[in-house]
Amino acid sequence: MTTAADSRSGAAGLVEGEFPFTTEDFRKIAQILHSYAGIALADGKAALVYSRLAKRLRTLGLRSFREYCALIEGVEGVDERQTMMAALTTNVTRYFREPHHFDHLRDVVLPPLVERARKGGRVRLWSAACSNGQEPYSMAITVLSALPEAANLDVKILATDIDPNMVAEGRAGIYREEAVAPVPLDLRRRWFKKAPVEGAWEVADELRALVSFRELNLIGDWPMKGRFDAIFCRNVVIYFDEPTQERIWSRFAPLLEPRGTLYIGHSERVTGAATSVFETTGLTTYTLRSPR
Ligand SMILES: C[S@@+](CC[C@H](N)C(=O)[O-])C[C@H]1O[C@@H](n2cnc3c(N)ncnc32)[C@H](O)[C@@H]1O
Repeated sequence: MTTAADSRSGAAGLVEGEFPFTTEDFRKIAQILHSYAGIALADGKAALVYSRLAKRLRTLGLRSFREYCALIEGVEGVDERQTMMAALTTNVTRYFREPHHFDHLRDVVLPPLVERARKGGRVRLWSAACSNGQEPYSMAITVLSALPEAANLDVKILATDIDPNMVAEGRAGIYREEAVAPVPLDLRRRWFKKAPVEGAWEVADELRALVSFRELNLIGDWPMKGRFDAIFCRNVVIYFDEPTQERIWSRFAPLLEPRGTLYIGHSERVTGAATSVFETTGLTTYTLRSPR
């Protein structure tokens, strides 16, 4: 247990273990994570930080978190900052996670878009914080089920994540049996093939053709210019502080078509100034308010 005086000095052992880890080390790590990825680490997360990073210290041959902080603070720490971020964030995802969003996409959002695409119009969807691709491929399966010829039309799904490992996994499009289990059998037969790896499935070429994976930090610059018909930004802003969350909601508004839809995670809400821009139309489902 650290005392207030210990915390001020930053000299206390915050977590008992192989490597000295002080309050000051924890604060530095939290500050770097916040400025790099927007993620707010609560004070109670010290043990988690220790357990997730101890392996890195061992691999790098470091003797204390103080040495680790010196590394990530320095100009040569760029790669390690990214590795740290990946170690401290969760990539948990699932095919058809929060299935009501995919039902809404199929039943409400897609019918007019299918019509538009068939007339030669442009349709764009974005999975912002896509993890290893299960979310954008679930979107692609939903689109292709409604519009089998989508790959030959002007229909595209952008899939972005801050973590280059997740982007690479998404591009590879290979998933273990357990990962594809939530995909209904008929859809699995139609949209996956057996991968060369034992017990793994690979997404069909039609899915691959629809989804483009890119690295993108939600608190950084967004290079996209065109508007989206739907944005999935789920289970990521929960890790950001409230002002950062509100900024992100507000930045989505000009990137959404007037009748576009924003889907957010089950424990997230559009709050603050962004509520004057978005209105909810269902469970964690939002559209832009019509101009008065
Ligand atoms: C819990 S997963 C959610 C994945 C998916 N949206 C879902 O709901 O299943 C959170 C993802 O957000 C990504 N992430 C964290 N901070 C980010 C940031 N600042 N910009 C973009 N992605 C970020 C992580 O790398 C991780 O893949």
